[in-house]
Amino acid sequence: MTRKILVTSALPYANGSIHLGHLVEYIQTDIWVRFQKMQGHTVHYVCADDTHGTPIMLRAEKEGITPEALIDSVHKEHSADFAEFLVDFDNYYSTNAPENKELSQSIYKKLKAAGKIAIKTIEQFYDPVKNMFLPDRFIKGECPKCHAKDQYGDSCEVCGATYNPTELINAYSAVSGAAPIRKETEHYFFKLSECEDFLKQWTRQGTGTNKATLQGEAANKMGEWFENGLNDWDISRDAPYFGFEIPDAPGKYFYVWLDAPIGYMASFKKLCADKGFDFDEYWKQDSTTELYHFIGKDILYFHALFWPATLQYSGHRKPTKIFAHGFLTVNGEKMSKSRGTFITARSYLDHIKNPEYLRYYYAAKLNSTMEDIDLNLEDFVARVNSDLVGKYINIASRTAGFINKRLEGKLQPSNNNPLVTELQSAASVISTAYEEREYGKALREIMRLADVANGYVAEKAPWVMAKQEGQDALLQQVCSDALEMFRLLTLYLKPVLPNLAGYIEAFLNISPLDWSDVSSSLSAQHAINAYDHLITRIDPKQVEAMTEANKENLQATPTIAQASSTPVASLPEAEYISIEDFAKVDLRIAKIVSAEHVEGAEKLLKLSLDIGEETPRQVFAGIKSTYDPETLKGRLTVMVANLAPRKMKFGMSEGMVLAASDERGGPYILSPDNGASPGMKVK
Ligand code: 2FM
Ligand code: ZN
Repeated sequence: MTRKILVTSALPYANGSIHLGHLVEYIQTDIWVRFQKMQGHTVHYVCADDTHGTPIMLRAEKEGITPEALIDSVHKEHSADFAEFLVDFDNYYSTNAPENKELSQSIYKKLKAAGKIAIKTIEQFYDPVKNMFLPDRFIKGECPKCHAKDQYGDSCEVCGATYNPTELINAYSAVSGAAPIRKETEHYFFKLSECEDFLKQWTRQGTGTNKATLQGEAANKMGEWFENGLNDWDISRDAPYFGFEIPDAPGKYFYVWLDAPIGYMASFKKLCADKGFDFDEYWKQDSTTELYHFIGKDILYFHALFWPATLQYSGHRKPTKIFAHGFLTVNGEKMSKSRGTFITARSYLDHIKNPEYLRYYYAAKLNSTMEDIDLNLEDFVARVNSDLVGKYINIASRTAGFINKRLEGKLQPSNNNPLVTELQSAASVISTAYEEREYGKALREIMRLADVANGYVAEKAPWVMAKQEGQDALLQQVCSDALEMFRLLTLYLKPVLPNLAGYIEAFLNISPLDWSDVSSSLSAQHAINAYDHLITRIDPKQVEAMTEANKENLQATPTIAQASSTPVASLPEAEYISIEDFAKVDLRIAKIVSAEHVEGAEKLLKLSLDIGEETPRQVFAGIKSTYDPETLKGRLTVMVANLAPRKMKFGMSEGMVLAASDERGGPYILSPDNGASPGMKVK
């Protein structure tokens, strides 16, 4: 029976690069999708960038660009990384898309109509300099337990204590450095506390290991959550916030986690519009299609509680299953910037080149549980070299030459080689393993079969036959049978190694392999193509170079991760640049001719700057929080004069004023010493 399946991977935040930790999930999902497609099922695999929230807004501001410009450039970067790792989405979209806005707002309205939205007044931390409410991760201070300085508002990285931001000693805003104040505000809540019965029933919906909606460990976690009682979910954030406005609630925005999973639907909706698929068939309440979400175990709460409840009370179908995986460790430890094991996708591609090595290694390590998986870099080299080069490819490299050079490229397989039959009959064990996401098990079986094939070649020793008179027919049969086994192994490995399979299909001169091709075979007189060296061994030096590069690289790649890592205030130092690089920046002394507020802009002042040109330059500077425009008039400062003019919401900005800031305060503009005058070059 042909199944109709919609598959998603979690949406990566649009403010950082894809790294090897992310890739566990995308590779895991992609293998599953490719396997299902090879089975002949109708499968759609969608994903998107997760674009909303405070960190993205602040990072864009810091870079002096709009959030839209930031998420556009990240979207390009992410799309390229995924494509090169052969993660083959049917659509890779953005949560900041019109479909997502419409769906988020209509789902919200349905939740409201179902009586599931409550408005409550809460007290929150507020940055009086930036004029914004602060998420917990943007409040820092001294740990109340161990007194370590500069700890986040929710937990201490030194002693591991967790606490409320109110408990921090000498708390400060990581955005402006100001002491936060407490301020009341109205927030919108989704009444999750009323969804417990539904959620309990949904969790128990399936029975048996294969039918369960959640993995065992995940179901246990749910049990704990139910025991502790479910709290209502705060789904609103106050302006300024980069996201979608809540209908009929001016100045209130959907919290990023409300519209993120709806992004799965939005991405699929766009795919439906492009390809003519039926959106409702997949999302209506009584849909008979299947829906699977691959996620990391850290976001189970969102996917197993909020998301099904959101779908239920807005009249949609619920996920068929949620597949959570563990975290990636490298060499047995958390990925580490100082050890160079926090490796970006791009850096892997630059050094190791072949994405299929990582796909193979991850697949060999993956199973259906939420256990963490370890990328041991030494083992990575050893396993790829021994399994892929030493075992699998070896079968072709030891036999193809005889067919091509001695036997006019023609095959003559035997019809009843029991070893070929053994390889064929493994198909169901392997397909069950793929279906159940037991990829490690599938690959162990495939490598056992590769050993069988290699054993056959070693026993028959075609290189000996080739030297003997009158053995050509036997030589042809042995090499043909070996290549038939190689064909079957290629078919079994194809979900993991799709590119390599493509080269091998071309070499064997066969059409793209599907699962049903297990029961076909290479026929007598079938002509194959010339054998080209298919893959090379990894040199451990490549891996060394990669970890070395990441030690430096991370110094140079500041990212502000959503909720969980480096806040704005503690970005790493910049890497070294050459004097020529520096000389590219045209810095000039500028006189502030006028400075004024900009209507509708919360952070900007409009400056008119004289740098000795005929007409002064207009520059928008994000310094409103620290300066009264009146006090700026007539002052000298420093500007970047050769920054490409940028069109901003309020007009053109023709340069940039330099200013200093960190968690202690700012932005503070620079002043030159006496004697400097407008237009002088700063160098
Ligand atoms: O944890 C994360 O990286 C989130 N950006 C995942 C979102 S998944 C989905 F719900 F949108
Ligand atoms: Zn502490």
